[in-house]
Amino acid sequence: MAEIVVLDSRAEAGELAADVILELVARRRDAVLGLATGSTPLPIYQALASRRADLAAVRGFALDEYVGLPASHPESYRSVITREVVEPLGLAPELVRVPGDRGPIETAGADYERAIVDAGGVDLQILGIGTDGHIGFNEPGSSFESLTRVKTLTQQTREDNARFFDSIDDVPVNCITQGLGTIRRARHLVLLAFGEAKAAAIAAAVEGPVTASAPGSAIQLHPHVTVLVDGSAASRLANLEYYRYAWANKPAWESI
Ligand code: PGA
Repeated sequence: MAEIVVLDSRAEAGELAADVILELVARRRDAVLGLATGSTPLPIYQALASRRADLAAVRGFALDEYVGLPASHPESYRSVITREVVEPLGLAPELVRVPGDRGPIETAGADYERAIVDAGGVDLQILGIGTDGHIGFNEPGSSFESLTRVKTLTQQTREDNARFFDSIDDVPVNCITQGLGTIRRARHLVLLAFGEAKAAAIAAAVEGPVTASAPGSAIQLHPHVTVLVDGSAASRLANLEYYRYAWANKPAWESI
């Protein structure tokens, strides 16, 4: 099962995730990271930037991108990844891909999958979760076997993301996202969630039935998952006390 770690703050979660990433990069300078956007992963990127580690050889694959926004738009995930990840962490821009960044959109999904395979696969995938349970932009109903492809955002996701745009009408309707199958191939999943608004999605992902109706529940099929949550996001977990107890009693030799 996933390892659930309940932390006192977002910053603490960011520091812990940064520790795990830097341990990985110490083993392999050119580790492959799966990069998430949104508010949730920011504490990780802030923690990594403050450590001033040499990440110039790290390769990155973003989870998803809007379709219909030019890459130069400040809210395109290419722009967000450049601003929030590549520049502050000192990654090499040419080593960081975003879905749909090359060639026609019709073949972009297959091209992205090939690039991930050619890179040797994703070592560590950072994930957030939507209030509707999506991971990446895999909305409820997405196949657990799905690969990178163009999808349609739910109205809920468009409303959640409207805060980054002048109005909801400016939020694209379509996106291109790694599939749940793509995400499941990554060797280690690190899922973060903070705040009460994510509590139901986290409970469904961690403890609910494995169902395409709750895309986050795909993590239950993965052998190596770490879930970093604050008390609010953890508040609907039935086995919360056990997760706290297991973390407090984690053998010292066992890594995350
Ligand atoms: P958020 O989005 O981090 O901005 O809450 C998470 C997601 O939609 O996956």
